[in-house]
Amino acid sequence: MIARRVNEIPFSGIRKFFDLVMGSKDVISLGVGEPDFPTPEPLKDAAIRAIENDYTSYTSNYGIPELREEISEKLKVRNKINRNPKDEILITSGVSQGLDLAVRAITDPGDEILIPEPCYVSYNSNVWFAHGKPISVPTYEENAFRVKAEDIKKRLTKKTKGILISTPNNPTGSVLKKKDLEEIADIAIENKLAVISDEIYEDLIYDNEKHHSIASLNGMEDATITLNGYSKPYAFTGWRLGYAAGNPEFIEAMMKIHQYAQICAPSISQYAALGAFELEEYVKDMVRSYDLRRRLLVKGLNSLPNISCITPKGAFYAFPNIKDTNLSSAEFAERLLKEAGVAVIPGDAFGESGEGYIRCAYCVSREDITEALDKINRFAERLP
Ligand SMILES: Cc1ncc(COP(=O)(O)O)c(C=O)c1O
Repeated sequence: MIARRVNEIPFSGIRKFFDLVMGSKDVISLGVGEPDFPTPEPLKDAAIRAIENDYTSYTSNYGIPELREEISEKLKVRNKINRNPKDEILITSGVSQGLDLAVRAITDPGDEILIPEPCYVSYNSNVWFAHGKPISVPTYEENAFRVKAEDIKKRLTKKTKGILISTPNNPTGSVLKKKDLEEIADIAIENKLAVISDEIYEDLIYDNEKHHSIASLNGMEDATITLNGYSKPYAFTGWRLGYAAGNPEFIEAMMKIHQYAQICAPSISQYAALGAFELEEYVKDMVRSYDLRRRLLVKGLNSLPNISCITPKGAFYAFPNIKDTNLSSAEFAERLLKEAGVAVIPGDAFGESGEGYIRCAYCVSREDITEALDKINRFAERLP
C-alpha cells in the first residue's frame, strides 16, 4: 500500500540512535542536537498572553504581519538582505518545513539538487520526496569540511536546478567563508541555479568567525531562498517556528504548498517569538556556554587514542575522525553505546562522506562531556 518513493527512503540515522538511547539506562547522550537551555522567559510569557488573549486561530498563510516585520528588519540589519514583509517572507513550522517547501517549490521531477556533504539528515530526503535527484558534493576534513567550488562544478549537469547549502553546518560545525560563498554565488549565477541557504546555526559561531548570508552577495538576492528559525538560538525546538525569505516568486510558490499542506505556522508560537531578536544577551550567554563545552570536548577528543578532531567553528557539534580505530562509523557508535554507555551519531548518517567520523553534540553539561570523554577513552584503549 505504501508508495515506493517512501519505502525506498530509510529512517533518519539519528532517530535510530535516539530510540536505542531511550531504551538504555545510564547512557550519556552526545546524540541529539537540541539546546539544553529553557526557552527564554519573555517568550514563554508572550505565549501565555497569546493564549489568554485567544490568539489561537489560523493566521495569514504567510504568518502574522508583526512577526514578518521583525524578521524583515532583522534580515536587513544582521544579514544585509532586503525583503518586504508583505510577500517576501513566509513563516514556517521550523526550518524543517522551510526546507521541504523550498525544495518542492524549485524541483521538477528528475531535477538535480547539489548538496555538500556531510549534511543535515533531511536534505537528501527532501529532494527525493520532491521527485528530484539529490547529488552529493563531498567535503573533506583537509578543507575543514568547507565545500570547494571545483567539487560543485564537477557535478553540474543540464539537469542541475539548485544548490542546498548550510553554514554553520550540521554535523561538521564548518563555517563557510565569504570567499567560499562568493565562489558558490558565481556558479549559481553563471548556471542560473537557485540556492537554498539553511542558516539555522548563524548565531552559534566561535573564534571570531563571521556568518555571511549568500543572499547578501552581489546578484544573489533573487537567486536565494534563505531559511532560518528560532529552534537553536532561542531553545525553541518544540514550538516549531522558522522563516523563509526570498523573491516574491519563490515565496509565493512556497506559500502555495504551505497553504494546502499546513495553512499556517502555530499561532501561539508566532506570538511567543515576537521580540526574540532583542534577546541578544540570552543568545550571547548561550554561545559562551557552548564555546566552553566545545573547547573541553575537542581538547579531550584529541587526547584519546586513535581519535582526532578538528576544531568546529559553528553550531554545537564536533565531528571527530575515528578511521584509525579500524571500525566503521556505525560499528564504532554501536559498540560505544553498548560497551561504554555513550551515544554518538555515526557519521555516515549524514551521507557517505561522513564515513570514518562520528558526530558528538556538545549541548550537554560539562560534567557529562567530561564523563563521556572518560568512557570513550576507556573504550578506545580497549580496541586492538
Ligand atoms: C541544519 C539544520 N537544519 C534544519 C534543522 C531543523 O530545525 P527546525 O527545528 O527549525 O525544524 C536542523 C535541526 O537540527 C538542523 O540541524
